[in-house]
Amino acid sequence: MKFFIDTANLDQIREAQDLGILDGVTTNPSLMAKEGISGTQAIMQHYKTICEIADGDISAEVLSTTYEEMIKEGDELAAIHPNIVVKIPMIKDGIKALKYFSDKGIKTNCTLIFSAGQALLAAKAGANYVSPFLGRLDDISVDGMNLIEEIRMIYDNYYFSTEILAASIRSPMHIINCAKVGADVITSPLSSILSLLRHPLTDSGLAQFVADAKKLS
Ligand code: E4P
Repeated sequence: MKFFIDTANLDQIREAQDLGILDGVTTNPSLMAKEGISGTQAIMQHYKTICEIADGDISAEVLSTTYEEMIKEGDELAAIHPNIVVKIPMIKDGIKALKYFSDKGIKTNCTLIFSAGQALLAAKAGANYVSPFLGRLDDISVDGMNLIEEIRMIYDNYYFSTEILAASIRSPMHIINCAKVGADVITSPLSSILSLLRHPLTDSGLAQFVADAKKLS
């Protein structure tokens, strides 16, 4: 299972990279805006910096929504660094853009996936990743994990190589449940990844070992 961090914050990306368990980064326009990045040049430079900090696939989302604009923008994003994955929204023109990039050998991530049908279409168009948004489904009382299971079943039935990138992760339990149902990747805020570390018995057990270690020297 791959671990991506879902942020445009450079300090958090560095911290996750330093942990040694990071396989990639995802961003979106909202996460870029949160970091105060604006203007084409600044956005391009920010992606370049992220690629220099983190190893693995770095998703960079197009800001446009027409086929012609998305392929122009995606080509420019892909030229920044070999690790850039062009992130395309799940719309009709997006499907055409996924096919264009797939034929060109440029990696893609189809975002804003909320149904199994959307995931099927994205796979048919040759997307490398699909991003079902777990947390946003849970937010409206729809079981996001059920969607991950459905996509897993469909992709396994037909041996689609598209990877399921579970997104909109809100908690460590989301990560654990994604691992149980076979999501290929999770993209998560750093806080949920770090929460996986914690257990009170680990803390009390270590405190006891440290205390007893002192008796040994
Ligand atoms: C996915 O690639 C998105 O960047 C992200 O996971 C959305 O998460 P949110 O619902 O917390 O905004």
